[in-house]
Amino acid sequence: MEGLNMTGFNTRLIHGQNINDNQTGAVNVPVYQSSTYAYPDINGKVRWDYSRSGNPTREYLEKQIATLEHGANGFAFASGMAAIHAALAIFKEGDHILIGDQIYGGTYRLINDYFQARGITFTSVNTQDLEAVKAAIQPNTKAIYFEPVTNPLLQVTSVRAIAAVAKAHDFLTIVDNTFLTPYLQQPLDLGADIVVHSATKYLGGHSDVIAGLVVTKTKALGKRIYFIQNALGGVLSPENANLVRRGIQTLSVRMDRQQENARQLIDYLASRDEVATIHYPGIAGSRDHEIAAEECDGFGGVFSFELQDDVDAPAFVNSLQLIRLAVSLGAVESLAELPYEMSHAELPPEERLAAGITPQLIRISVGIEDAADLISDLNQALATATRRQNVHILKRSIG
Ligand SMILES: Cc1ncc(COP(=O)(O)O)c(C=O)c1O
Repeated sequence: MEGLNMTGFNTRLIHGQNINDNQTGAVNVPVYQSSTYAYPDINGKVRWDYSRSGNPTREYLEKQIATLEHGANGFAFASGMAAIHAALAIFKEGDHILIGDQIYGGTYRLINDYFQARGITFTSVNTQDLEAVKAAIQPNTKAIYFEPVTNPLLQVTSVRAIAAVAKAHDFLTIVDNTFLTPYLQQPLDLGADIVVHSATKYLGGHSDVIAGLVVTKTKALGKRIYFIQNALGGVLSPENANLVRRGIQTLSVRMDRQQENARQLIDYLASRDEVATIHYPGIAGSRDHEIAAEECDGFGGVFSFELQDDVDAPAFVNSLQLIRLAVSLGAVESLAELPYEMSHAELPPEERLAAGITPQLIRISVGIEDAADLISDLNQALATATRRQNVHILKRSIG
């Protein structure tokens, strides 16, 4: 704008400062709150033109996650579901996709009620059973999609083993890495082709943003995802890209503390008679533990446990005071939920039970508070739930 006489007050309000971030010394990428970008002239080649197609704040996050996952390209979406939609939208009518039988309910709904109606077929398989996976392959199988650590039972699948089968049969491996994050596992290094995230969880880390990410191993796959991102337009806003960018900066310190707290909570619960079983890949003695020990750099901050039948599970979660009752996970605050009544309530009761989701199952997403305070919260809730149950039993025996 050199040489231009900018005397108008309103013009100066808008153009009073030269904007050139290379000279600001800002240590963080600015939140580029601009839908469009000016061309120098009609023939000028510009890096940015319109923020659905590309935004510098979003691009920062996209490069950040691609680097962390060791991928070629990253893409940021307005939710985890939008990211998963984009990863599956690269397929077309007539394609067949294998899906893990314990995937997130929202993904299951997207597949069943949206993609199936558009001519893509799916077969649900137990990804822990390689023979079952191989038996489900069809001539038109184009991908396998699964979660290496399942929710809420924390069952672990070997990404390396599944990716090897997929490679041998020439189809893609797509992994939802929400629970582990690139801090604990990099699926692309284990042979996967595409990684998706609900960045709403550990990457954002503060329960203050809904966001999703996709990372591709190759630029060719990146082009296919970019087409969907730009054509369908479910992009992450610059402010939310900034929140996820900032969250990612503290991912490892948060997860270290969450895992340490998880360990202490599990040790406490294991010592209690009211607890029947604990599900956590960090507990030695299971195939889940062996796979996780081999392919992950930690066991994560989520675990679940079953209360004995004579403990009132709803009373237990209702009595928690510090640990909040909520369905999300992966944030700085500890959250508890009852999958049978909350996150998995839309499944018919017999399916819930067949999947091992009993009315006595509690899921905990461990935060970064002091473990001693979390334990005393569990302790008082167990005491209340046991008292309540005793009252029920007493009433039954009197009545
Ligand atoms: C494993 C997993 N994947 C995907 C999603 C969907 O992400 P979002 O809620 O950010 O759309 C969730 C949400 O709970 C999830 O737990």
